[in-house]
Amino acid sequence: MEMYSINWESSLLLATLLLFLALITISKKLQQPQRLINPPPGPKPWPVIGNLNLIISKPRQSLQSLSEKYGEILLLKLGKSPVVIASSPELAKQFLRTHDASFASRPAFAAGKYTCYNYRNMVWAPYGPYWKQARRIYHSEVFSAKRLESFEHIRVQERRRFLSRLHSLSEKPIMLRDELSRHTLSSISKMVLSGNGLVKKMKILHKKLDCFNNYVIDDHLARRSSSEKPKHDFATKGVLDVLLELAEDSNNLDVQLTRDDIKGLLQDLLTGGTDSSATTVEWAIHELLRQPRIIEKAKEELDRVIGRNRWVEENDYSRLPYIEAIIMESMRLHPLSTFLAPRYAVEDCKVAGFDISKGTIVLVNIWSIGRDPKSWDSPREFLPERFLGKEMLDVVMGSDFEMLPFGSGRRRCPGYSLGLRVVRATLASLLHGFDLKLAADGRGGVRADDICMEDMSRFDTRPKHPILVVLEPRLEHHLY
Ligand code: HEM
Repeated sequence: MEMYSINWESSLLLATLLLFLALITISKKLQQPQRLINPPPGPKPWPVIGNLNLIISKPRQSLQSLSEKYGEILLLKLGKSPVVIASSPELAKQFLRTHDASFASRPAFAAGKYTCYNYRNMVWAPYGPYWKQARRIYHSEVFSAKRLESFEHIRVQERRRFLSRLHSLSEKPIMLRDELSRHTLSSISKMVLSGNGLVKKMKILHKKLDCFNNYVIDDHLARRSSSEKPKHDFATKGVLDVLLELAEDSNNLDVQLTRDDIKGLLQDLLTGGTDSSATTVEWAIHELLRQPRIIEKAKEELDRVIGRNRWVEENDYSRLPYIEAIIMESMRLHPLSTFLAPRYAVEDCKVAGFDISKGTIVLVNIWSIGRDPKSWDSPREFLPERFLGKEMLDVVMGSDFEMLPFGSGRRRCPGYSLGLRVVRATLASLLHGFDLKLAADGRGGVRADDICMEDMSRFDTRPKHPILVVLEPRLEHHLY
Protein backbone atom coordinates (compact mmCIF):
# COMPACT_ATOMS: atom_id res chain seq x y z
CA MET A 1 0.00 0.00 0.00
CA GLU A 2 2.97 2.21 -0.56
CA MET A 3 1.20 4.62 -2.87
CA TYR A 4 -1.59 5.27 -0.46
CA SER A 5 0.69 5.83 2.44
CA ILE A 6 1.83 9.07 0.83
CA ASN A 7 -0.99 10.95 2.55
CA TRP A 8 -0.46 14.26 4.22
CA GLU A 9 0.30 12.75 7.59
CA SER A 10 3.12 10.75 6.04
CA SER A 11 4.05 13.82 4.07
CA LEU A 12 4.28 15.69 7.33
CA LEU A 13 6.62 13.03 8.67
CA LEU A 14 8.65 13.07 5.49
CA ALA A 15 8.62 16.83 5.50
CA THR A 16 9.75 16.96 9.08
CA LEU A 17 12.59 14.58 8.42
CA LEU A 18 13.59 16.54 5.36
CA LEU A 19 13.33 19.65 7.42
CA PHE A 20 15.67 18.15 9.98
CA LEU A 21 18.13 16.96 7.37
CA ALA A 22 18.04 19.94 5.03
CA LEU A 23 17.54 22.62 7.59
CA ILE A 24 20.18 24.98 6.50
CA THR A 25 19.01 25.00 2.87
CA ILE A 26 15.38 25.54 3.82
CA SER A 27 16.13 28.20 6.34
CA LYS A 28 18.05 30.22 3.75
CA LYS A 29 14.89 30.43 1.69
CA LEU A 30 12.80 31.60 4.59
CA GLN A 31 12.84 35.23 5.42
CA GLN A 32 15.06 35.94 8.35
CA PRO A 33 12.84 36.78 11.29
CA GLN A 34 13.21 40.28 12.56
CA ARG A 35 14.15 40.76 16.16
CA LEU A 36 10.82 40.32 17.88
CA ILE A 37 9.68 42.59 20.64
CA ASN A 38 7.63 39.98 22.43
CA PRO A 39 8.29 36.48 21.02
CA PRO A 40 6.55 33.40 22.48
CA PRO A 41 8.57 31.70 25.20
CA GLY A 42 10.98 28.94 24.31
CA PRO A 43 14.43 27.52 24.93
CA LYS A 44 17.48 29.44 23.76
CA PRO A 45 18.58 28.18 20.33
CA TRP A 46 22.10 27.05 19.45
CA PRO A 47 23.78 28.51 16.38
CA VAL A 48 22.94 26.57 13.19
CA ILE A 49 20.96 23.71 14.79
CA GLY A 50 18.66 25.93 16.82
CA ASN A 51 16.70 23.69 19.24
CA LEU A 52 16.90 20.51 17.19
CA ASN A 53 18.94 18.84 19.91
CA LEU A 54 15.94 19.02 22.25
CA ILE A 55 13.42 17.20 20.10
CA ILE A 56 15.29 14.96 17.71
CA SER A 57 15.04 11.71 19.70
CA LYS A 58 11.46 11.67 21.03
CA PRO A 59 9.73 14.63 19.40
CA ARG A 60 6.23 14.20 20.81
CA GLN A 61 7.30 13.54 24.38
CA SER A 62 9.92 16.30 24.15
CA LEU A 63 7.39 18.79 22.79
CA GLN A 64 4.97 17.75 25.51
CA SER A 65 7.48 18.42 28.26
CA LEU A 66 8.66 21.66 26.62
CA SER A 67 5.03 22.81 26.44
CA GLU A 68 4.58 21.93 30.12
CA LYS A 69 7.67 23.96 30.91
CA TYR A 70 7.04 27.01 28.69
CA GLY A 71 3.26 27.01 28.40
CA GLU A 72 0.69 26.44 25.70
CA ILE A 73 2.57 28.46 23.11
CA LEU A 74 6.18 27.65 22.45
CA LEU A 75 8.73 29.04 20.00
CA LEU A 76 11.47 26.73 18.75
CA LYS A 77 14.10 27.18 16.13
CA LEU A 78 14.64 24.20 13.87
CA GLY A 79 17.86 25.33 12.31
CA LYS A 80 17.02 28.92 11.54
CA SER A 81 13.33 28.26 10.87
CA PRO A 82 11.04 29.59 13.56
CA VAL A 83 8.41 27.02 14.53
CA VAL A 84 5.57 27.79 16.91
CA ILE A 85 3.76 24.96 18.71
CA ALA A 86 0.23 25.74 19.91
CA SER A 87 -1.15 23.24 22.42
CA SER A 88 -4.38 24.61 23.89
CA PRO A 89 -7.92 25.18 22.59
CA GLU A 90 -7.57 28.94 23.07
CA LEU A 91 -4.32 29.12 21.10
CA ALA A 92 -5.76 26.86 18.39
CA LYS A 93 -8.67 29.28 18.12
CA GLN A 94 -6.31 32.24 17.83
CA PHE A 95 -4.34 30.68 14.96
CA LEU A 96 -7.17 28.89 13.15
CA ARG A 97 -10.02 31.34 13.57
CA THR A 98 -9.02 34.81 14.79
CA HIS A 99 -5.88 34.99 12.60
CA ASP A 100 -6.81 32.27 10.10
CA ALA A 101 -6.02 34.42 7.06
CA SER A 102 -2.48 35.24 8.27
CA PHE A 103 -1.70 31.52 8.73
CA ALA A 104 -3.64 30.03 5.81
CA SER A 105 -0.61 28.96 3.79
CA ARG A 106 1.60 25.87 3.98
CA PRO A 107 5.39 25.87 4.23
CA ALA A 108 7.19 24.98 1.02
CA PHE A 109 8.41 21.56 2.20
CA ALA A 110 10.20 19.30 -0.24
CA ALA A 111 7.45 16.66 0.20
CA GLY A 112 4.93 18.94 -1.49
CA LYS A 113 7.32 19.75 -4.31
CA TYR A 114 8.51 16.27 -5.17
CA THR A 115 5.55 14.04 -4.29
CA CYS A 116 2.68 16.40 -5.14
CA TYR A 117 3.47 17.85 -8.57
CA ASN A 118 5.13 21.00 -7.31
CA TYR A 119 2.42 21.81 -4.73
CA ARG A 120 -0.46 21.23 -7.15
CA ASN A 121 -2.51 19.15 -4.71
CA MET A 122 -4.63 20.96 -2.18
CA VAL A 123 -2.88 19.77 0.97
CA TRP A 124 0.44 21.41 0.09
CA ALA A 125 -0.75 24.23 -2.18
CA PRO A 126 0.23 27.68 -0.88
CA TYR A 127 -2.68 29.96 -0.08
CA GLY A 128 -3.59 31.76 -3.31
CA PRO A 129 -5.76 31.60 -6.44
CA TYR A 130 -4.96 27.94 -7.26
CA TRP A 131 -5.78 26.71 -3.73
CA LYS A 132 -8.95 28.85 -3.64
CA GLN A 133 -10.13 27.40 -6.92
CA ALA A 134 -9.38 23.84 -5.78
CA ARG A 135 -11.34 24.46 -2.59
CA ARG A 136 -14.27 25.83 -4.63
CA ILE A 137 -14.24 22.80 -6.93
CA TYR A 138 -14.16 20.42 -3.97
CA HIS A 139 -17.05 22.19 -2.25
CA SER A 140 -19.34 22.60 -5.21
CA GLU A 141 -18.44 19.64 -7.42
CA VAL A 142 -16.85 16.90 -5.36
CA PHE A 143 -18.20 16.99 -1.81
CA SER A 144 -21.55 18.71 -2.37
CA ALA A 145 -24.48 16.96 -0.67
CA LYS A 146 -25.91 16.15 -4.12
CA ARG A 147 -22.69 14.56 -5.39
CA LEU A 148 -22.18 12.56 -2.19
CA GLU A 149 -25.75 11.29 -2.38
CA SER A 150 -25.23 10.31 -5.99
CA PHE A 151 -22.34 8.11 -4.83
CA GLU A 152 -24.35 6.38 -2.12
CA HIS A 153 -25.07 3.34 -4.32
CA ILE A 154 -21.30 2.87 -4.76
CA ARG A 155 -20.72 3.03 -1.02
CA VAL A 156 -23.55 0.54 -0.38
CA GLN A 157 -22.22 -1.83 -3.04
CA GLU A 158 -18.68 -1.64 -1.71
CA ARG A 159 -19.82 -2.15 1.87
CA ARG A 160 -21.80 -5.25 0.90
CA ARG A 161 -18.72 -6.56 -0.85
CA PHE A 162 -16.59 -5.89 2.22
CA LEU A 163 -19.10 -7.60 4.52
CA SER A 164 -19.41 -10.64 2.23
CA ARG A 165 -15.64 -10.93 2.11
CA LEU A 166 -15.46 -10.78 5.91
CA HIS A 167 -18.19 -13.41 6.07
CA SER A 168 -16.18 -15.70 3.78
CA LEU A 169 -13.20 -15.22 6.09
CA SER A 170 -15.17 -15.78 9.29
CA GLU A 171 -13.68 -18.06 11.92
CA LYS A 172 -10.18 -17.36 10.51
CA PRO A 173 -7.77 -14.81 11.96
CA ILE A 174 -7.63 -11.72 9.75
CA MET A 175 -5.51 -8.60 9.88
CA LEU A 176 -8.17 -5.96 10.49
CA ARG A 177 -6.05 -3.10 9.15
CA ASP A 178 -5.59 -4.76 5.74
CA GLU A 179 -9.30 -5.42 5.36
CA LEU A 180 -10.25 -1.87 6.36
CA SER A 181 -7.69 -0.28 4.02
CA ARG A 182 -8.76 -2.48 1.14
CA HIS A 183 -12.39 -1.50 1.71
CA THR A 184 -11.85 2.27 2.04
CA LEU A 185 -9.47 2.31 -0.93
CA SER A 186 -11.98 0.46 -3.04
CA SER A 187 -14.92 2.71 -2.06
CA ILE A 188 -13.06 6.00 -2.52
CA SER A 189 -11.42 4.99 -5.78
CA LYS A 190 -14.74 3.85 -7.27
CA MET A 191 -16.25 7.24 -6.44
CA VAL A 192 -13.27 9.12 -7.84
CA LEU A 193 -12.64 6.97 -10.91
CA SER A 194 -16.25 5.95 -11.66
CA GLY A 195 -15.41 2.26 -11.18
CA ASN A 196 -14.50 1.19 -14.71
CA GLY A 197 -11.95 -1.49 -14.09
CA LEU A 198 -9.29 1.00 -13.06
CA VAL A 199 -9.16 -0.26 -9.53
CA LYS A 200 -7.55 -3.45 -10.81
CA LYS A 201 -5.01 -1.43 -12.78
CA MET A 202 -4.44 0.67 -9.70
CA LYS A 203 -3.34 -2.40 -7.75
CA ILE A 204 -0.86 -3.30 -10.48
CA LEU A 205 0.53 0.21 -10.78
CA HIS A 206 0.20 1.20 -7.16
CA LYS A 207 3.94 1.58 -6.66
CA LYS A 208 4.24 4.01 -9.54
CA LEU A 209 2.03 6.86 -8.55
CA ASP A 210 2.70 9.13 -11.49
CA CYS A 211 2.43 6.26 -13.90
CA PHE A 212 -0.95 5.40 -12.44
CA ASN A 213 -2.19 8.99 -12.51
CA ASN A 214 -1.17 9.34 -16.17
CA TYR A 215 -2.80 6.05 -17.01
CA VAL A 216 -6.19 6.94 -15.53
CA ILE A 217 -6.23 10.41 -17.09
CA ASP A 218 -5.31 9.03 -20.54
CA ASP A 219 -7.90 6.29 -20.18
CA HIS A 220 -10.63 8.79 -19.30
CA LEU A 221 -9.56 11.17 -22.06
CA ALA A 222 -9.54 8.36 -24.64
CA ARG A 223 -13.04 7.33 -23.69
CA ARG A 224 -14.25 10.93 -23.77
CA SER A 225 -12.94 11.50 -27.29
CA SER A 226 -13.94 8.10 -28.74
CA SER A 227 -17.15 7.54 -30.64
CA GLU A 228 -18.23 5.44 -27.67
CA LYS A 229 -18.00 8.45 -25.41
CA PRO A 230 -19.57 7.32 -22.13
CA LYS A 231 -22.96 8.92 -21.55
CA HIS A 232 -22.54 9.93 -17.95
CA ASP A 233 -25.40 11.46 -16.12
CA PHE A 234 -24.92 13.16 -12.78
CA ALA A 235 -25.31 9.89 -10.91
CA THR A 236 -22.70 7.86 -12.77
CA LYS A 237 -20.04 10.50 -13.26
CA GLY A 238 -16.89 9.95 -11.20
CA VAL A 239 -14.93 12.82 -9.71
CA LEU A 240 -12.19 12.50 -12.34
CA ASP A 241 -14.81 12.99 -15.09
CA VAL A 242 -15.92 16.16 -13.33
CA LEU A 243 -12.35 17.48 -13.14
CA LEU A 244 -11.69 16.71 -16.81
CA GLU A 245 -14.89 18.47 -17.84
CA LEU A 246 -13.88 21.53 -15.84
CA ALA A 247 -10.43 21.51 -17.45
CA GLU A 248 -11.99 21.36 -20.94
CA ASP A 249 -14.39 24.19 -20.25
CA SER A 250 -11.91 26.57 -18.68
CA ASN A 251 -14.11 29.66 -19.25
CA ASN A 252 -15.65 29.08 -15.85
CA LEU A 253 -12.31 28.86 -14.07
CA ASP A 254 -10.06 31.57 -12.65
CA VAL A 255 -6.98 29.37 -13.06
CA GLN A 256 -6.64 27.00 -16.05
CA LEU A 257 -6.43 23.36 -14.85
CA THR A 258 -3.36 21.62 -16.28
CA ARG A 259 -2.66 17.91 -16.39
CA ASP A 260 -0.39 18.20 -13.33
CA ASP A 261 -3.16 20.05 -11.47
CA ILE A 262 -5.56 17.20 -12.15
CA LYS A 263 -2.96 14.68 -11.04
CA GLY A 264 -2.39 16.66 -7.83
CA LEU A 265 -6.10 16.81 -7.04
CA LEU A 266 -6.53 13.13 -7.87
CA GLN A 267 -3.80 12.37 -5.39
CA ASP A 268 -5.57 14.41 -2.67
CA LEU A 269 -8.72 12.44 -3.16
CA LEU A 270 -7.26 8.96 -3.43
CA THR A 271 -4.71 9.28 -0.66
CA GLY A 272 -6.53 11.74 1.63
CA GLY A 273 -9.59 9.60 2.06
CA THR A 274 -8.28 6.09 2.23
CA ASP A 275 -6.05 5.66 5.25
CA SER A 276 -7.77 8.44 7.20
CA SER A 277 -11.14 6.66 7.35
CA ALA A 278 -9.62 3.19 7.80
CA THR A 279 -7.39 4.33 10.68
CA THR A 280 -10.27 5.97 12.53
CA VAL A 281 -12.23 2.69 12.43
CA GLU A 282 -9.12 0.69 13.34
CA TRP A 283 -8.56 2.75 16.52
CA ALA A 284 -12.21 2.49 17.49
CA ILE A 285 -12.00 -1.32 17.30
CA HIS A 286 -8.78 -1.33 19.34
CA GLU A 287 -10.52 0.65 22.06
CA LEU A 288 -13.71 -1.41 21.96
CA LEU A 289 -11.95 -4.75 22.24
CA ARG A 290 -10.48 -3.51 25.51
CA GLN A 291 -13.93 -2.69 26.87
CA PRO A 292 -16.54 -5.38 26.12
CA ARG A 293 -19.23 -3.38 27.95
CA ILE A 294 -19.07 -0.73 25.20
CA ILE A 295 -19.39 -3.35 22.46
CA GLU A 296 -22.43 -4.82 24.22
CA LYS A 297 -24.07 -1.38 24.49
CA ALA A 298 -23.40 -0.69 20.82
CA LYS A 299 -24.86 -4.02 19.76
CA GLU A 300 -27.90 -3.52 21.95
CA GLU A 301 -28.51 -0.18 20.20
CA LEU A 302 -28.04 -1.69 16.74
CA ASP A 303 -30.35 -4.63 17.45
CA ARG A 304 -33.00 -2.37 18.96
CA VAL A 305 -32.95 0.27 16.19
CA ILE A 306 -32.03 -1.77 13.10
CA GLY A 307 -32.93 -5.35 14.07
CA ARG A 308 -31.24 -8.40 12.64
CA ASN A 309 -32.94 -8.58 9.26
CA ARG A 310 -31.26 -5.73 7.43
CA TRP A 311 -28.01 -3.77 7.29
CA VAL A 312 -27.49 -0.27 8.69
CA GLU A 313 -28.04 2.47 6.08
CA GLU A 314 -26.56 5.96 5.94
CA ASN A 315 -29.77 7.63 7.05
CA ASP A 316 -30.00 5.53 10.25
CA TYR A 317 -27.33 7.52 12.07
CA SER A 318 -29.57 10.03 13.76
CA ARG A 319 -31.10 7.05 15.59
CA LEU A 320 -27.77 5.55 16.66
CA PRO A 321 -26.43 8.03 19.24
CA TYR A 322 -24.19 5.51 21.00
CA ILE A 323 -22.41 4.54 17.77
CA GLU A 324 -21.99 8.26 17.04
CA ALA A 325 -20.54 8.76 20.53
CA ILE A 326 -18.02 5.93 19.97
CA ILE A 327 -16.81 7.63 16.78
CA MET A 328 -16.47 11.03 18.46
CA GLU A 329 -14.55 9.53 21.38
CA SER A 330 -12.27 7.68 19.00
CA MET A 331 -11.56 10.87 17.03
CA ARG A 332 -10.84 12.75 20.27
CA LEU A 333 -8.23 10.29 21.52
CA HIS A 334 -6.83 9.26 18.16
CA PRO A 335 -6.54 12.12 15.69
CA LEU A 336 -4.78 11.15 12.48
CA SER A 337 -1.59 12.90 13.43
CA THR A 338 -0.09 14.66 16.41
CA PHE A 339 -0.17 18.04 14.64
CA LEU A 340 -2.47 19.51 12.05
CA ALA A 341 -0.80 19.89 8.68
CA PRO A 342 1.64 22.79 9.16
CA ARG A 343 0.46 26.37 8.66
CA TYR A 344 2.78 29.11 7.44
CA ALA A 345 2.66 32.80 8.45
CA VAL A 346 2.25 34.95 5.33
CA GLU A 347 2.67 38.17 7.33
CA ASP A 348 3.84 39.39 10.72
CA CYS A 349 1.09 38.96 13.26
CA LYS A 350 0.36 39.42 16.96
CA VAL A 351 -1.22 36.34 18.52
CA ALA A 352 -2.33 36.22 22.16
CA GLY A 353 -0.02 39.17 22.78
CA PHE A 354 3.03 37.51 21.19
CA ASP A 355 4.79 38.63 18.02
CA ILE A 356 4.89 35.98 15.31
CA SER A 357 7.05 36.85 12.33
CA LYS A 358 6.29 36.22 8.69
CA GLY A 359 7.75 32.86 7.63
CA THR A 360 7.02 31.11 10.93
CA ILE A 361 5.74 27.54 10.70
CA VAL A 362 2.82 26.88 13.04
CA LEU A 363 2.01 23.42 14.36
CA VAL A 364 -1.25 22.94 16.26
CA ASN A 365 -0.92 19.98 18.59
CA ILE A 366 -4.33 18.31 18.27
CA TRP A 367 -3.15 15.21 20.10
CA SER A 368 -2.54 17.24 23.29
CA ILE A 369 -5.66 19.37 22.82
CA GLY A 370 -7.90 16.26 22.71
CA ARG A 371 -6.35 15.06 25.98
CA ASP A 372 -6.23 18.36 27.82
CA PRO A 373 -7.39 17.84 31.44
CA LYS A 374 -8.72 21.41 31.48
CA SER A 375 -11.27 20.46 28.83
CA TRP A 376 -11.92 16.77 29.49
CA ASP A 377 -12.70 14.72 32.62
CA SER A 378 -10.60 11.52 32.78
CA PRO A 379 -8.99 12.62 29.50
CA ARG A 380 -7.08 9.40 28.82
CA GLU A 381 -10.08 7.11 29.28
CA PHE A 382 -12.21 5.96 26.37
CA LEU A 383 -15.70 6.98 27.52
CA PRO A 384 -18.21 7.40 24.67
CA GLU A 385 -20.88 8.39 27.22
CA ARG A 386 -19.29 11.85 27.48
CA PHE A 387 -20.67 12.60 24.00
CA LEU A 388 -24.24 11.36 24.47
CA GLY A 389 -26.65 14.16 23.60
CA LYS A 390 -24.03 15.97 21.50
CA GLU A 391 -24.28 16.48 17.75
CA MET A 392 -21.56 14.83 15.67
CA LEU A 393 -20.94 17.87 13.44
CA ASP A 394 -20.77 20.34 16.36
CA VAL A 395 -18.17 18.14 18.01
CA VAL A 396 -15.95 17.09 15.12
CA MET A 397 -15.97 20.48 13.42
CA GLY A 398 -14.27 21.73 16.58
CA SER A 399 -16.65 24.61 17.26
CA ASP A 400 -15.18 25.01 20.76
CA PHE A 401 -11.65 23.96 19.68
CA GLU A 402 -11.49 21.22 22.34
CA MET A 403 -10.92 18.57 19.69
CA LEU A 404 -10.01 19.13 16.05
CA PRO A 405 -10.01 15.83 14.14
CA PHE A 406 -10.61 17.61 10.81
CA GLY A 407 -8.74 20.83 11.63
CA SER A 408 -10.43 24.20 11.44
CA GLY A 409 -10.56 27.40 9.43
CA ARG A 410 -9.70 27.84 5.77
CA ARG A 411 -7.50 24.73 5.62
CA ARG A 412 -9.99 22.44 7.36
CA CYS A 413 -10.45 19.02 5.74
CA PRO A 414 -12.77 19.41 2.74
CA GLY A 415 -13.51 15.67 2.74
CA TYR A 416 -14.97 15.47 6.25
CA SER A 417 -18.48 14.65 5.12
CA LEU A 418 -17.36 11.73 2.96
CA GLY A 419 -14.90 10.61 5.64
CA LEU A 420 -17.65 10.55 8.28
CA ARG A 421 -20.02 8.62 6.04
CA VAL A 422 -17.41 5.94 5.40
CA VAL A 423 -16.36 5.71 9.08
CA ARG A 424 -19.93 5.54 10.40
CA ALA A 425 -21.08 2.92 7.93
CA THR A 426 -17.97 0.74 8.26
CA LEU A 427 -17.88 0.72 12.05
CA ALA A 428 -21.63 0.25 12.50
CA SER A 429 -21.80 -2.60 9.96
CA LEU A 430 -18.81 -4.35 11.54
CA LEU A 431 -20.35 -4.23 15.03
CA HIS A 432 -23.82 -5.09 13.77
CA GLY A 433 -22.77 -7.92 11.49
CA PHE A 434 -20.08 -9.68 13.50
CA ASP A 435 -18.88 -10.67 16.93
CA LEU A 436 -15.23 -9.72 17.05
CA LYS A 437 -12.64 -11.67 19.01
CA LEU A 438 -8.98 -10.99 19.36
CA ALA A 439 -6.74 -13.67 17.81
CA ALA A 440 -3.18 -14.56 18.74
CA ASP A 441 -0.95 -12.21 16.77
CA GLY A 442 2.39 -13.91 16.89
CA ARG A 443 3.49 -11.67 19.74
CA GLY A 444 1.73 -14.01 22.12
CA GLY A 445 -1.21 -12.13 23.53
CA VAL A 446 -4.93 -12.62 23.06
CA ARG A 447 -6.13 -10.80 26.15
CA ALA A 448 -7.65 -7.34 25.80
CA ASP A 449 -4.87 -5.96 27.99
CA ASP A 450 -2.34 -7.19 25.43
CA ILE A 451 -3.61 -4.84 22.72
CA CYS A 452 -0.86 -2.36 22.04
CA MET A 453 -2.21 1.18 22.24
CA GLU A 454 0.99 2.84 21.08
CA ASP A 455 1.10 4.91 17.92
CA MET A 456 3.07 3.88 14.88
CA SER A 457 5.71 6.60 15.09
CA ARG A 458 6.56 10.06 16.20
CA PHE A 459 4.15 11.79 13.87
CA ASP A 460 2.04 8.99 12.48
CA THR A 461 -0.62 8.08 15.03
CA ARG A 462 -1.83 4.83 13.43
CA PRO A 463 -1.73 1.86 15.84
CA LYS A 464 1.83 0.58 16.08
CA HIS A 465 0.80 -3.08 16.05
CA PRO A 466 -2.15 -3.99 13.83
CA ILE A 467 -4.40 -6.58 15.49
CA LEU A 468 -5.58 -9.95 14.28
CA VAL A 469 -9.27 -10.66 14.85
CA VAL A 470 -11.65 -13.54 14.32
CA LEU A 471 -15.16 -12.63 13.16
CA GLU A 472 -18.35 -14.58 13.79
CA PRO A 473 -21.43 -13.57 11.79
CA ARG A 474 -24.45 -12.55 13.90
CA LEU A 475 -27.12 -11.62 11.32
CA GLU A 476 -29.36 -13.74 9.11
CA HIS A 477 -27.22 -15.78 6.69
CA HIS A 478 -28.85 -14.39 3.50
CA LEU A 479 -27.69 -10.85 4.33
CA TYR A 480 -23.99 -11.55 3.76
C1 HEM B 1 -12.07 10.31 8.85
C2 HEM B 1 -11.61 10.84 7.75
C3 HEM B 1 -10.71 12.08 7.66
C4 HEM B 1 -10.01 12.75 8.63
C5 HEM B 1 -9.97 12.46 10.14
C6 HEM B 1 -9.31 13.85 7.98
C7 HEM B 1 -8.49 14.78 8.64
C8 HEM B 1 -7.88 15.85 8.02
C9 HEM B 1 -7.10 16.86 8.71
C10 HEM B 1 -6.81 16.87 10.21
C11 HEM B 1 -6.66 17.76 7.78
C12 HEM B 1 -5.78 19.00 8.03
C13 HEM B 1 -6.66 20.18 8.36
C14 HEM B 1 -5.90 21.43 8.78
O1 HEM B 1 -4.72 21.58 8.43
O2 HEM B 1 -6.51 22.28 9.47
C15 HEM B 1 -7.17 17.32 6.51
C16 HEM B 1 -6.94 17.99 5.33
C17 HEM B 1 -7.36 17.52 4.10
N1 HEM B 1 -8.14 16.39 3.87
FE1 HEM B 1 -8.93 15.17 5.25
N2 HEM B 1 -9.59 13.81 6.65
C18 HEM B 1 -10.45 12.75 6.41
C19 HEM B 1 -10.99 12.39 5.20
C20 HEM B 1 -10.71 12.98 4.01
C21 HEM B 1 -11.26 12.58 2.72
C22 HEM B 1 -12.29 11.45 2.55
C23 HEM B 1 -10.68 13.37 1.77
C24 HEM B 1 -10.85 13.35 0.29
C25 HEM B 1 -11.33 12.32 -0.40
C26 HEM B 1 -9.79 14.30 2.46
C27 HEM B 1 -9.03 15.28 1.85
C28 HEM B 1 -8.31 16.27 2.52
C29 HEM B 1 -7.62 17.37 1.84
C30 HEM B 1 -7.57 17.61 0.33
C31 HEM B 1 -7.03 18.17 2.84
C32 HEM B 1 -6.18 19.44 2.65
C33 HEM B 1 -6.99 20.73 2.86
C34 HEM B 1 -6.15 21.98 2.69
O3 HEM B 1 -4.94 21.97 2.95
O4 HEM B 1 -6.70 23.02 2.31
N3 HEM B 1 -9.83 14.03 3.81
N4 HEM B 1 -7.90 16.16 6.68
